[in-house]
Amino acid sequence: MKYSTVYDCSVIEVDKHHSEAGNITVIENIETVPFETNRVYYLYDIPGGEERGAHAHRELKQLLIAASGSFDVVLNDGNVRRTVSLNRPYHGLLIVPGIWRELNNFSSGAVCLVLASHKYDEKDYIRNYEEFLEYKK
Ligand code: TYD
Repeated sequence: MKYSTVYDCSVIEVDKHHSEAGNITVIENIETVPFETNRVYYLYDIPGGEERGAHAHRELKQLLIAASGSFDVVLNDGNVRRTVSLNRPYHGLLIVPGIWRELNNFSSGAVCLVLASHKYDEKDYIRNYEEFLEYKK
């Protein structure tokens, strides 16, 4: 997805079952997210003012959810920058491959839940911004 743009990334409203006793949100492969989830991880205990991300992936697709609290995701395709604020546990931001992302503005107690299409592979990362711009040419 060398030529992907920030407009290929979208916020998906995932289902939410409400009851007097609280809510539950269920995410099922394909029905909810357009890829098979092979890995789940979550970011938490993020110190105030901290920034995460600052990399792109060559193949990995991800769905980011603010399972608790809120944070901003700055998407960048090398041409256009777009900031998406996540602050609902039933909203998921789909990030396609080839997008530089930075996560910042974490609220206290924020939990960023990530569903990923592949297992961890450091070779899939582009961690250098100049290299990313070169990759997108
Ligand atoms: P990284 O993806 O750079 O975190 P973030 O984008 O949230 O800032 O990963 C941070 C560290 O954790 C890095 O040393 C690699 C390791 N890591 C794994 O071992 N497995 C994983 O699935 C992930 C996402 C990270």
